[in-house]
Amino acid sequence: MTKIIQSDRSQTVVVAGGAGFIGSNFIRTVIEITQWSVIVIDKLTYAGNLLNLDGLPSDRVRFVVGDVCDKELVDSIAKNADAIVNFAAESHNDRSLYAAGPFLKTNVEGTFVLIEAARRFHIRYHHVSTDEVYGDLPIETDTSFTLASPYRPSSPYSATKAAADHLVSAWVRSFGVQATTSICVNNYGPYQHIEKFIPRQITNLLTTRRPKLYGTGRNVREWLHVYDHVFGIMKILTSGQIGKSYLLSSGLGLSNIDVLRLILEIMEFPEDYFDCVIDRPGHDRRYALDSTSTKSELNWSPRYSDFRAGLKDTIQWYKENVDWWIENKRNVEEQYARREASS
Ligand code: NAD
Ligand code: DAU
Repeated sequence: MTKIIQSDRSQTVVVAGGAGFIGSNFIRTVIEITQWSVIVIDKLTYAGNLLNLDGLPSDRVRFVVGDVCDKELVDSIAKNADAIVNFAAESHNDRSLYAAGPFLKTNVEGTFVLIEAARRFHIRYHHVSTDEVYGDLPIETDTSFTLASPYRPSSPYSATKAAADHLVSAWVRSFGVQATTSICVNNYGPYQHIEKFIPRQITNLLTTRRPKLYGTGRNVREWLHVYDHVFGIMKILTSGQIGKSYLLSSGLGLSNIDVLRLILEIMEFPEDYFDCVIDRPGHDRRYALDSTSTKSELNWSPRYSDFRAGLKDTIQWYKENVDWWIENKRNVEEQYARREASS
């Protein structure tokens, strides 16, 4: 029987990777708009931060430091829950090019442990995936990937995400696991780690460093505000069809150089105030998803569609939360410098 997850019922949701960027934004939304209790399981890697969960009510959010690859721990948490939502991942392409091991472990083995728990305890599972599983598109076209597009991941990161998606589909088909998957474009918004493109450039400018653009900056990404991503996941969890994947996108494809120029303009720097640095090996050219079917089936659509306003709010968030990122900044930039020097 399909287990229905409803926002107005008191239910327990395990959020794996809930101390990261999207997971923590998801938990804030859950606490705001549902009656659910949350159990976070997060290993607190370099990307996880307990401050991301600051201020949440302790009677509704319980935090467990742990690895999603730890079967005993996962089982002990999942056995009394109604659902698992899996955000836990190694998420950065650049890192996957230099050390892929943790990506295989967390993204593939971690997914295996979580879906096995969902299978054993007959609970709902939602898997958070990425547009990168489809590979890339030529820059000079306006085509988009659909659910019919073949999986063609390019980087070690995206290959592990694709592998995890296949595990989920196989567990649905072979064992009847009550799973759904969301496949989303690039997110931006508060609490994003400063290694990622938008926060890296904002925090560069806030620390008198010049922004760094890979190659010529012509690569295109489709940007969705993180609040719209988590709303999409809520819709899928509560009214999605078991076994289905849903595409979440904004239609807002922008070249990296255009995004950077917008950041420079909002932060009142000259439009040529950046350095072009060595390109990412195998750099995907363009991502775009067609989310028409998600919109019509789930009545979901992006609410934060004004990218300039969303970017302005995000810049303001990094300005107001310097304590959240400043201690990390030098370390992140030293790592980038070391990788650049070794390539
Ligand atoms: P993130 O790197 O900010 O957060 C990942 C979280 O997972 C961290 O809190 C980290 O501590 C935790 N984690 C890592 N390994 C773990 C392990 N073995 N056990 C338990 N916890 C572990 O990532 P994010 O940007 O929030 O991405 C979340 C998910 O969304 C990922 O699956 C990613 O592939 C997907 N996604 C991200 C984007 C984006 O633009 N950021 C877009 C589409 C999909
Ligand atoms: O598309 C969804 C994916 O988006 C998610 O699955 C990943 O978890 C997430 O990290 C993101 O991947 P990208 O590789 O697209 O994001 P990143 O922020 O690393 O880079 C965005 C673009 O900016 C990309 O074309 C590379 C470029 N870039 C990145 C950095 C860090 C730069 O030009 N300069 C930089 O300093």
